[in-house]
Amino acid sequence: MHNILASRHSPTKPYLARLAVPVRELHAGHREQILNHLLQLDEEDRRLRFGTQTPDEVIKHYVEHLDFNKDSVFGVFDSDLRLVGMAHLAYLPQVKGRVHASEFGVSVLPEGRAQGLGTALLQRSAVHSRNSNIQTLYVHCLANNKAMMHLAQKAGMKVEYAYGDADAYLTLPPANPSTIVEEAANEQWAGFDYAVKENLKLASQVWWWFLGRPGHAR
Ligand SMILES: CC(C)(COP(=O)(O)OP(=O)(O)OC[C@H]1O[C@@H](n2cnc3c(N)ncnc32)[C@H](O)[C@@H]1OP(=O)(O)O)[C@@H](O)C(=O)NCCC(=O)NCCS
Repeated sequence: MHNILASRHSPTKPYLARLAVPVRELHAGHREQILNHLLQLDEEDRRLRFGTQTPDEVIKHYVEHLDFNKDSVFGVFDSDLRLVGMAHLAYLPQVKGRVHASEFGVSVLPEGRAQGLGTALLQRSAVHSRNSNIQTLYVHCLANNKAMMHLAQKAGMKVEYAYGDADAYLTLPPANPSTIVEEAANEQWAGFDYAVKENLKLASQVWWWFLGRPGHAR
């Protein structure tokens, strides 16, 4: 019992301890969590994420139209299974004579920031792109988005600025056995991490029900 209750007091920033961030690939069943995640972004974060003012209705429309068969969506969950970070990797239409490219968009809730989640989502998207035969990973954002520019430059992306916007490009080498194993290992680790958090959450709910929540007479 102690372990279950103690787990509620585990460090709030576990990834600073250099643990690999478990990044899960999301599917249509996660639509509601994706919507909740994006609706929690404030006005400025929405502007940085989507490049313009983005009211709730636009976010709802965006989430409803996410095509999980065409694009890839990745997420990081906290210990309460709240989607704290997510990335949308959109595959750009193939144009004859041009390299095959994907576009990366990311958001991390303020309480999850500066723990490497954005970096992990970018890394996972880059590896997934390589394994999907994509040659260029691309990020479009506002030029004054310091955190995203920092992430992009740290990942070795080439950045071009024009009219208040910035385009960052990463040329990806072809996939190899280690990129395939890397992605499979991260997906497996993320599945394991999610199952553990799910069990701990369930167990703590059972204990709270058994003991009675403080202030809630049963
Ligand atoms: C951009 C964003 C995804 C970063 O997420 P994150 O989980 O904090 O990212 P990380 O922890 O992996 O790394 C953040 C890095 O940026 C740095 N950083 C943060 N704010 C910064 C700033 N104002 N200026 C310079 N660097 C900054 C951090 O120090 C950290 O650097 P380090 O890894 O070298 O220590 C997050 O800030 C966010 O969701 N912003 C709103 C939406 C957005 O801008 N999306 C990007 C456009 S698609």
